[in-house]
Amino acid sequence: MDSPTADRIHIQEVGMRDGLQSAGQFVETEDKVRLLNALSKAGLSKIEVTSFVSPKAVPLLADAEEVLEAIDRQPSVTYSALIPNLRGLDRALAVELDEVNVVMSVSEAHNLANLRMTCEQSIEQFKEICKNRGHLRVNGTLATAFGCPFTGGVTQSTVFEWAYRYLDAGINSLTLADTIGTATPRQVYDLCVGFTEAFPSIEITLHLHNTRGLGIANALSGIAAGIRHLDASVGGIGGCPYAPGATGNVCSEDLVHALIFDGYRCEVDLEQLLSVSHELGALLSDPLPGLVRYAGSKLTTHPMSDDLQCRMGLVKSD
Ligand code: COA
Ligand code: ZN
Repeated sequence: MDSPTADRIHIQEVGMRDGLQSAGQFVETEDKVRLLNALSKAGLSKIEVTSFVSPKAVPLLADAEEVLEAIDRQPSVTYSALIPNLRGLDRALAVELDEVNVVMSVSEAHNLANLRMTCEQSIEQFKEICKNRGHLRVNGTLATAFGCPFTGGVTQSTVFEWAYRYLDAGINSLTLADTIGTATPRQVYDLCVGFTEAFPSIEITLHLHNTRGLGIANALSGIAAGIRHLDASVGGIGGCPYAPGATGNVCSEDLVHALIFDGYRCEVDLEQLLSVSHELGALLSDPLPGLVRYAGSKLTTHPMSDDLQCRMGLVKSD
């Protein structure tokens, strides 16, 4: 096997947006703020704090302004928020923020279900958003880039077509999102090689869901294809409320654990992430899907019983 790249792999936390938008219960604003402050100290490159969408569409994130008002910021972290339209930009410009993440599904059916807009209507909004962005970076997410919950397969040429449209609109960086966790490692590799070769100077993020258990395999495949920015969510929570069957993102602490012990450099504090994951678990009724939070890290060992110690010759039997 090839050695892991020496490049830093940037981990970008999306749990407080992608996770809490579909958590099944409202997490109180002060709890969100506490979790975000702890995440800010974990060595993450970016945190998607919340979204400025219609509170009727996503009531669990209706406190977006209050959260952004209250969090402590770290200079090393880019703070981002998802917006679907110009109304979202107005709200984003009224708070302290570094980036907005505009999102459109490359599948017309999912875009209509999720955002109630055609893809063309979304792109028109993005052009206006880029023109009026002020100091904000604009990241553009290509949702359902690996498959749509309604119409199935998505061709690479469709994803490229919309990526070029995003860049023409003035978007700074791109995210390839497997919104419904349908991608396979080879599919990820092929699309990511295509993107890193076609857009060598554009930062490209891979946003994966672990719906079918392939999240970490897909992340490693993306890294092998040249991707250096990965979204993940603490505890593995996540899912689009408007994509039937969509479940959690690739879990931040599981991904960081895999990367660290496989020799990659991601500069994230695994213990700090695990501590946030446990705190989050105590707030939510449903068990969290992450695995390392239950198993402990690869370095975890368990005490031997007296009998086993005797058999090992470590203590003398009477
Ligand atoms: N923030 C807050 N409110 C917003 C908003 C925004 N960014 N955009 C629209 N609204 C409000 C409007 O003011 C209007 O309010 P009213 O009913 O009190 O008058 C209402 O939402 C409907 O506005 P309209 O422009 O007709 O939008 P719509 O009903 O066609 O919905 C979206 C379009 C994009 C606003 C809505 O589908 C949405 O917010 N979707 C987000 C879905 C999501 O977050 N999915 C997961 C992440 S990808
Ligand atoms: Zn997602």
